Amino acid sequence: MTKNIVVLGSLNADNIMKMPRMPLVGETMALTDVTTAPGGKGANQAVAAARQGANVSFIGAVGNDSNGQFMRATLLTNGVNVDAVTTNGDVPTGSAYIMLQESGANTILIHGGANQALTIADIDESVIANADTLIAQFEVPLDVIIAAFKIAKANHVQTILNPAPAVYQLTSELMQVTDIILPNETEAQLLSGITVKNDEAVLNRVSNAILSKGVSRCIITLGAAGSFVADGDKRWWAKPNKVKALDTTGAGDTFIGTLARVIESDFSNLDEAVKQASIASAIAVTRAGAIPSIPTYDEVATF
Ligand code: RIB
Repeated sequence: MTKNIVVLGSLNADNIMKMPRMPLVGETMALTDVTTAPGGKGANQAVAAARQGANVSFIGAVGNDSNGQFMRATLLTNGVNVDAVTTNGDVPTGSAYIMLQESGANTILIHGGANQALTIADIDESVIANADTLIAQFEVPLDVIIAAFKIAKANHVQTILNPAPAVYQLTSELMQVTDIILPNETEAQLLSGITVKNDEAVLNRVSNAILSKGVSRCIITLGAAGSFVADGDKRWWAKPNKVKALDTTGAGDTFIGTLARVIESDFSNLDEAVKQASIASAIAVTRAGAIPSIPTYDEVATF
């Protein structure tokens, strides 16, 4: 059965600056390339779920500008319903400035714009109530995320939280309405207060610290090291698919959108969902950009 997924989140025009390495403070450095691509964690996750075959609707906002038109068109081209995307004429569409190093590693600066101007009044309750799964990230205001997750839980809709960037606390109010939380290693460190290392004992402690905030499932994505899953008392380290990374931008988002598409409502196939998500993100890092790099269902199935 086709899964109905709603993504509440950000829409950004990504300005990608390719550089040999991160510049030092005070240094002037020549970029090797500059490109623009559609992105934003919300948009990336929505497109990832759609390319895996889900029915996806988006709740978010753009400015009344060319980037807003670009982001709307990108969602529509990928089959994502934009009826609940509002246009806010007072602020620009969100944007990101991605410092992409030769190694494929990235550092991202964002300007929230319309994403940060989203309000609870912009939530279309019926869109959430009719979904199977709701996904959100931390690039829109926290009160909007909490309100949306409460609507979801009141309607037995599964909730997936990507606490990225890790700018808000994991309050018990939010954790009570969250089914799965998916931080990357940097976010897990900031949220748990424990230095994350690729070591089972450490990852156990970090997971325990996050679960102690009131959520039952945590998946820490570890880039080239795979992901560490905590599901109640069960723990396992999902090993990575070895690929040569060209650009890691959007790989975590691809993982989340794919996981949301595959996961059952009772979480019984979490292991399988993580495996599919790992394949999708492994494919994504071999290609440039966020949305342009996201694989289709067939590409994941034949990997
Ligand atoms: O996760 C990658 C995304 O983070 C980029 O597309 C950028 O827009 C920021 O939201």
